[in-house]
Amino acid sequence: MNVLGIESSCDETSVAVISEGKLKANLISSQDFHTKYGGVVPELSSRAHLQIIVPLVKDALSKAELNLDNIDLICATAGPGLIGALLVGLTFGKSLAFSLNKPFVPVNHIEGHIFSGFLMEDKPEFPILVLVVSGGHTLLLLVKSDEEIIKLGTTVDDAAGEAFDKVSKLLGLGYPGGPKIQNMAKDGDPEKIKFPVSTLKNPYGFSFSGLKTAVLRYVQKKYGEGTSIPQNDLPDLTASFQATVVKTLIRNAEKALKEFDVKSLSLVGGVAANKALRNAYENLAIKYHKKIVIPDFVFCGDNAAMIAYRGMKLYQLGRRYSLNSNAYPGLSSDSFITNALTK
Ligand code: KG4
Ligand code: ZN
Repeated sequence: MNVLGIESSCDETSVAVISEGKLKANLISSQDFHTKYGGVVPELSSRAHLQIIVPLVKDALSKAELNLDNIDLICATAGPGLIGALLVGLTFGKSLAFSLNKPFVPVNHIEGHIFSGFLMEDKPEFPILVLVVSGGHTLLLLVKSDEEIIKLGTTVDDAAGEAFDKVSKLLGLGYPGGPKIQNMAKDGDPEKIKFPVSTLKNPYGFSFSGLKTAVLRYVQKKYGEGTSIPQNDLPDLTASFQATVVKTLIRNAEKALKEFDVKSLSLVGGVAANKALRNAYENLAIKYHKKIVIPDFVFCGDNAAMIAYRGMKLYQLGRRYSLNSNAYPGLSSDSFITNALTK
């Protein structure tokens, strides 16, 4: 089976081809121009998807040495994401399916991330404790099979990636915050400033807005409002912030490991590119003698390989979808393998 996957939920247009279970192409076009606006501008994002989608599909097919007639299944992200951005990939994917008379599978972007460990040579084994950390989501999940995802905890306010982005902005480091903070933190002392680690009623729940406020208060108190932060102080400040985010995430994952008997651990989503977090999650796996799968960087951020993989799996599980299906910008993490997407 040859599967074409399309991802366009935010600021990456991506097209992937999986052929006979092997990933043959995973092209990603990142819209770097949003950097100068300090965040993603939805209309500009939609327009950029529109311009690049056709050449990207052509390039992906040629990289996979296939043509459209060889494609048996088309999958595209249906949500969550920016509505205008989603509509480009989704409409294009559906139109292709319609014209080629091939099946179409709409994919939940978060499910794409959850199963992205399966894109690796050495795959996770069920049940898996999955930590999803992206710009829009922070979730701790017990994934028992391809069809059973139990949500243990989520964030009550900001997502982990959002915290990186917001703190980066307030420190004047720019967007996207994750890589900027990681880079600045690399020579800093993570123990230098003690920021609070939030505790919630749900032992697996997360909250990052208090941490963001704590960084703001620290900066205001130390440097006064409106004055810039001395460059020399930024490494310790960013390292301490980053370490607090990592501590919060790892603490909850460890609680879950004590409670649930899992075979493996997986860390996915854009923030899974963070080296400090990867190291901490790896150490946790070593401590509890678990297998760990953290996808390569290219599969951590938004990509179509994960959409093609998840769509293919749903199709193989017998799920069929109508071409009348909708886009779901606010698709929640309560509707995994969502009925909303099912025919
Ligand atoms: O999964 P993703 O590409 O898009 C969403 O679905 O949200 O995640 C993007 C998020 C952004 O918030 C970005 O700042 C964060 O991932 N990120 C990182 C790193 N690289 C990207 N956060 C921390 N450290 C990084 N190295
Ligand atoms: Zn994502």
